[in-house]
Amino acid sequence: MSIKKTVAILDFGSQYTQLITRRVREHHVYSEIFPFTVSPEELQEQGVEAIILSGGPANVYKKNAPTLNQNLLNINIPILGICYGLHLLVNTTGGTIVSSGSGEYGNARINRTGGQSQLFNDIPENTQVWMSHGDEINELGPEWKPIAISSNGVVAAIQHISRPFFGVQFHPEVIHTTDGATFISNFLFNVCGCRPNWTPSNFINNAVKEITEKVGDNELVCGLSGGVDSSVVATLLHKAIGTRSHCIFIDHGMLRKEEVNQVMGSLRTGLGLNIHHFDHSKNFLQKLNNVIDPEKKRKIIGNEFIHSFSEIAKNIGNIHYLAQGTLYPDIIESGGNTVGPAVKIKSHHNVGGLPDDMPFDLIEPLKELFKDEVRLVGRELGLPEFVLNRHPFPGPGLAVRIIGKITIERLEILQNADHIFIDILKDTGEYDKIWQAFAVLIPIKTVGVMGDTRTYENLIALRAVTSTDGMTAEWYHLPYDVLDKCSNRIVNEVSGINRVVYDITGKPPGTIEWE
Ligand code: XMP
Repeated sequence: MSIKKTVAILDFGSQYTQLITRRVREHHVYSEIFPFTVSPEELQEQGVEAIILSGGPANVYKKNAPTLNQNLLNINIPILGICYGLHLLVNTTGGTIVSSGSGEYGNARINRTGGQSQLFNDIPENTQVWMSHGDEINELGPEWKPIAISSNGVVAAIQHISRPFFGVQFHPEVIHTTDGATFISNFLFNVCGCRPNWTPSNFINNAVKEITEKVGDNELVCGLSGGVDSSVVATLLHKAIGTRSHCIFIDHGMLRKEEVNQVMGSLRTGLGLNIHHFDHSKNFLQKLNNVIDPEKKRKIIGNEFIHSFSEIAKNIGNIHYLAQGTLYPDIIESGGNTVGPAVKIKSHHNVGGLPDDMPFDLIEPLKELFKDEVRLVGRELGLPEFVLNRHPFPGPGLAVRIIGKITIERLEILQNADHIFIDILKDTGEYDKIWQAFAVLIPIKTVGVMGDTRTYENLIALRAVTSTDGMTAEWYHLPYDVLDKCSNRIVNEVSGINRVVYDITGKPPGTIEWE
């Protein structure tokens, strides 16, 4: 995508703004969120070929409600208004909105009215849509016509009589709108003439070109954790500038069992990445000696990591750039109110908390991507499936899964139990259904009996959750026979454990990690 065409999603404070962006990209069309205050000139400069106005919680007549810049209607770019976005279109073009008392919330049926419309190609009569509005159209301006009515008698969709402007009262981005994907596809392809060229291979070609141009003859460093984001960044960099990209993989001693070998085997040997591996576990463990407080653990590990990374980078020498795996959700900041722009793009996202005086410029090749898009790019790049489908792993590693003091012995117990748990999940086909699964070592001992002998050993908790983004999570209902297998194997194979429990707490009220 050398000339990147963009669908601009203007954010008026909807909880679904990000979802609209994703839905557009699911049609292989690039889309990006902009604050509702964005100027028409900026949109034109950014190569915007379609505009979608998001919903939002405001009422168009309320003081300080977000408004639609009228000039956006004069730049010859098609517009689709969703819910509040539709109210804005109506209000700006001579119509009126009214608060309808009970409103419409949840599923509704809609039917066409007023003849054919490109927005309704292949949409059956009486299709189910999802509504969530208190306000509705009272009267349309002279140049608009209704094109669908809901079963509750509310105008559900409108179209401008001569220009490519549309509005829908329902939410096509929500899965409960049965034909939501068709509505979005009709707008993108029938109305706007977008081309479906936002594909992993196009992304890779473009990213490699940009990195090559930006880095020139210089060298760069990239922090590598073995997780999917940093592995994809490292592979893109390698493709662009080969061994002038130096990946730094620091073993802080709190990685999972066999993690170092897996990362080095698949990424260095398998893909030929230029990885500098450092075993700094002694330093980290020394600093964590006798530390119990979770926040202190995190701080110590964070600081030590920065220190190690900076020193290593300096020693490699002649480094101009630092690459990191910032993702699109990392740079979208929800304003959460209806007065100011609801999104703000940060100037840069300092993922690792690296010090300001590090003499590098940043390269963030994934900053436009969602996590699932990163996986698609990774697959296209030939990364092994086990890297692509790995559960997320926190920066502080097992340190936040050993409640209480961290010692080599306790680390080993946890690594062994965790390894068996994950092994069983993979064997039973459960692993890929789960967002994250791991074991936690609890700092208490309990009494047991094994082979007629009294035992007094450690307690392990197992946790498995489903989630879409880690912000909320549900505990995963592992089948009893799988739990049974885990308990048996862990108690029998890991010396130092005589009891296993399963965590059945969601987030909220729990968090995913225990510390
Ligand atoms: P919590 O425990 O806050 O975790 O519910 C949400 C997600 O974030 C991961 N996590 C971290 N990731 N550095 C990271 O890179 C950290 O310090 C960290 N703490 C939590 C956690 O594993 C889960 O996926």
